[in-house]
Amino acid sequence: GDHPAAAPVLRSEADERAITAAAAMLREGGTVAFPTETVYGLGADARNTSAVEAVFAAKGRPSDNPLIVHIAQRADLDDLVTEVHPVGAALIDAFWPGPLTLVLPVRPGVLSPLVTAGLDTVGVRMPDHPLALALLSAAGCPVAAPSANRSGRPSPTLAAHVMEDLAGYIGGVLDGGAAGVGLESTVVQVQPDGTVAVLRPGGITAEQLAAVAGAGAVDTAPAAAVDFAAGAAGPSTALVDADAGTGSASGQPAGAAQAAGNSSPAPRAPGMKYTHYAPRGWLGVVRGVSPQRVAGTAADLLQAAQRNGEVTGLLLFEEHRALYPAVPAACVVSLGSLDSPEEGARSLYAALRRFDEAGATYILAEACPEAGLGAAIMNRLMKAAGGSVIDAG
Ligand code: TXA
Ligand code: MG
Repeated sequence: GDHPAAAPVLRSEADERAITAAAAMLREGGTVAFPTETVYGLGADARNTSAVEAVFAAKGRPSDNPLIVHIAQRADLDDLVTEVHPVGAALIDAFWPGPLTLVLPVRPGVLSPLVTAGLDTVGVRMPDHPLALALLSAAGCPVAAPSANRSGRPSPTLAAHVMEDLAGYIGGVLDGGAAGVGLESTVVQVQPDGTVAVLRPGGITAEQLAAVAGAGAVDTAPAAAVDFAAGAAGPSTALVDADAGTGSASGQPAGAAQAAGNSSPAPRAPGMKYTHYAPRGWLGVVRGVSPQRVAGTAADLLQAAQRNGEVTGLLLFEEHRALYPAVPAACVVSLGSLDSPEEGARSLYAALRRFDEAGATYILAEACPEAGLGAAIMNRLMKAAGGSVIDAG
């Protein structure tokens, strides 16, 4: 069809009028993208079914994947949920505002049933971003906001990413510059026994959760979490990342066929053609016992792929750059130092989008240690790769 007109970009952090205009759009049932500390969200009044419908439509998101509800203050939580476990309350005290979403029993009749995808729970968080908090306060309503990307695409960490994916499909974008964390919130559900089930790793690390909930009280691989990349099949009520498809549009290049093992299972819903957070090209994660082994294998595969006519890309950590003397610098994107996973988290999604801009069709990414934020980085890389792992030995 016709290419839709661009949505207005509401500029300037200092501009009260931008926030007022965006809040008015939300109250009138429109959709507005806004910055949070994690990624940009696409907001709608969570009580308004047609507004929430517009969010699903703009994203191309399957309707069985629930949205996170954003609030401006702790007191707003009690309107939305019936109960908060003491451990959940402790996590809220420790990490709100911040990149932590709690899945809690929803209070019936307040939110549009589309927000919760018919579940009896709702994910809620208070973002740690001045623009987001100002917008939520001005709107005066709970705001449902998934990441403001087309479903399956890397999440947006800049207003420009939102426009790339959603211009013309949404009411506007509040521009707050680059998102500080760069990866989505950690989604947790506190079990009756006080165990914290991590349904999606994110900006709050397992180590941080354990510091509050107690060592041994954090379950980073609960049965309730659906992790397509790892091949786990969860129960039907577990909808974390349910819009993750598997497989690749371009398929695996012949050069990598022997080395790569694709551990991803069949897509749960037939016809889902996008891999979560994925660039358009094929992506594989390379791991091994040493950076030298990883680099040797990756460099060989990239050269083979290039000979096969692929446009290649390499995602590496700064320390390893010198291990790839024969790989053209043009296709290399760095996630910064291994010592600073914060930097890797912040730059990951923009890096994946850069490969799209370069037209990359065959991309390899170095694995990183899964301590701290490294767990969330690896989770997103594995999903982007649809589970394709190359073991360099
Ligand atoms: O950092 C973030 O969380 C960003 C910013 C915009 O706040 N939002 C975000 O939303 O990542 P979204 O919709 O892209 O991801 C929400 C995740 C999905 O994996 C969804 O399945 C899960 O949270 N989720 C939401 N409500 C849930 C519920 N009641 N039970 C289980 N999982 C839920
Ligand atoms: Mg998302």
